[in-house]
Amino acid sequence: MTAAPRKIILDCDPGIDDAMAIILAAYNPYIDLLGITTVAGNVSVEKTTRNALCLCELMGIGHVPVAQGAQQPLVRKSVFADYVHGDSGLGGIQLPPPQKEVMPEHGVDFIVRTLMESEGDITLVAIGPLTNVALALRKQPEIAAKVQEIVIMGGGTMGNITPAAEFNFFADAEAAKVVFGCGAPITMIGLDLTNQAMATAEVKEQFAAVNNRMSRFILDLIEDYEQHNLKLGLAGATVHDPCCIAYCIDPSMFEAKRLRVDIETNGELTYGMSVIDMLGVTQKPANANVPLKLDQRVFWDLFVKTIREANGSED
Ligand code: RIB
Ligand code: CA
Repeated sequence: MTAAPRKIILDCDPGIDDAMAIILAAYNPYIDLLGITTVAGNVSVEKTTRNALCLCELMGIGHVPVAQGAQQPLVRKSVFADYVHGDSGLGGIQLPPPQKEVMPEHGVDFIVRTLMESEGDITLVAIGPLTNVALALRKQPEIAAKVQEIVIMGGGTMGNITPAAEFNFFADAEAAKVVFGCGAPITMIGLDLTNQAMATAEVKEQFAAVNNRMSRFILDLIEDYEQHNLKLGLAGATVHDPCCIAYCIDPSMFEAKRLRVDIETNGELTYGMSVIDMLGVTQKPANANVPLKLDQRVFWDLFVKTIREANGSED
C-alpha cells in the first residue's frame, strides 16, 4: 500500500446497507476508521447504536469507538425505514447483545472534538439522515473548514421514499439544507449512482466463492435487502451506503460532475428533494461533487477482494 490509509468518521443508521459499509470500511486497508456515530434513521437511534456495537464485535473491531447521536430530526417528526430494514434494522439477522459499550460522549460532540483536534485530514462519511452533521456544524461552524471532505449518501434526481425525495434527505431535509450550505467540500453520492451498485446473481456467486465467515454474512445482508427491491420489481439489492466507502478508497471508479445542489424543505410533494442543477440554469456556484457513473465491476471486485483478504478463504 503506497498511500496512507484515509481517516474517516462514519455517521450512520445501521441499517442493512450501512452494515455493509461498516464491513468494507473496517476491513479495507485504505481506510482508517476513527469512529462510528449513530443517528436515528432506518430505525431508532437506540437500535442503530445497538446494531453498530454488535457489528463492531462481530468484525473484531471493538477498539473503534461508537458514539450515539441524535434521536430525532431537527424540526419534523421521525420517519423510519423499518419497512425495508426490519424492526431491528438488520432485517432477519439476529446478533447477540453487544458486550461493547457506547461512548459516554454524544455523537455530535465526538464529531466536533475529533475534527477540531485533527490536522484537517479527516473525511466525514454520512450514510444516514444528516441530523448529527447539521448539529455539529451548528455547534462548531469551524468544522466546515477543518473537515477534509463530507461524503454523503443521499439525494438524487429521483426519490425512493417519495417520488421526489431519497430517504436520508427526506428524514431530515432541514439538516441536509444546513450541510449543503456550510461551504465544506461535499461529495453527494445519490440514487442515480447507488442504483448502479446492484448485487446481481453473479456478484452473489463471487461472495459465495470466497466462502468465509464474513462473506456469508454479507450474503445474508444482500439476500435480506433484496427482498424489498424484488417486491418493487427491481432485479436485486442496490447497496447504497458502501458506495461512499468505495469512493473514499478509490474515487477513480466514479465519474462525477461539480453541480449546484439545493434541498427543498417546504414543498408539499417535494419535501426532502435534492434539487440538482444539472444544466447550470440557476448560475449559482456549484456546491457539490456529484458522482453519476459507477464502474460496477471495479466496485464489486474491490468489495469481494477486501472480504477475501480480510478473512481468508475457508476451504
Ligand atoms: O435511500 C437509501 C439510504 O436510506 C441508505 O442510507 C439506507 O441505509 C437508508 O438509510
Ligand atoms: Ca443508511
